Amino acid sequence: MAEADLALLHARQTCHDFAPEPVDEALLTQALEAAIRAPNHHLTNPWRFRSLGPQTREAVIRANTVLVQTKRGADAGRKKAERWRAIPGWLLVTSLRDHDPFRSRENYAACCCAVQNLMLAFSALGVGTKWTSGAVTRLPVFPGLVGYAPEAEDFVGLIWYGWPALETPLSKRQPLSEVWSARP
Ligand SMILES: Cc1cc2nc3c(=O)[nH]c(=O)nc-3n(C[C@H](O)[C@H](O)[C@H](O)COP(=O)(O)O)c2cc1C
Repeated sequence: MAEADLALLHARQTCHDFAPEPVDEALLTQALEAAIRAPNHHLTNPWRFRSLGPQTREAVIRANTVLVQTKRGADAGRKKAERWRAIPGWLLVTSLRDHDPFRSRENYAACCCAVQNLMLAFSALGVGTKWTSGAVTRLPVFPGLVGYAPEAEDFVGLIWYGWPALETPLSKRQPLSEVWSARP
């Protein structure tokens, strides 16, 4: 792998602040084309991507606002809703379920690889991403709000994307020596 490719892997980071300008659909298409190149046991093509438009986003934001208000009060709920309304790109990723639980698990693994491909591709194009799985995504009403049947698909992530407004420092990792060992 060329140095530049390796540098790209090291440079990807979660974006926490997006500029308001939307990202061109052509760039999203490029990132999705990279996503579906992820490894996939039995080539089940388990990934399903849904771009969420204003009406669907608003439904999710309202459900989340109720959660936040209940926990942290009306003001916190309002602020969170404002923040979420300013996020320019919303992409839902789900994974096809299978009657065989192991196959479902492998499908989910492939979808996680697809999300990483998507985020790396976006990063290469200068677009920031945030993989979210907040409490709202675990509400029983969530699949209905965003349009999938939970009997048929598992939630993988709600991916926010947009042009980064602020640079964030790279997050820390445990040193490699602490997570890598060798067996004879
Ligand atoms: C499965 C998954 C779910 C995540 N859900 C959230 C989330 O709900 N909220 C959030 O702020 N970050 C979420 N993240 C992003 C992680 O917090 C982030 O990757 C981590 O802090 C490391 O930062 P980095 O991506 O900049 O390296 C999620 C990441 C993954 C892989």
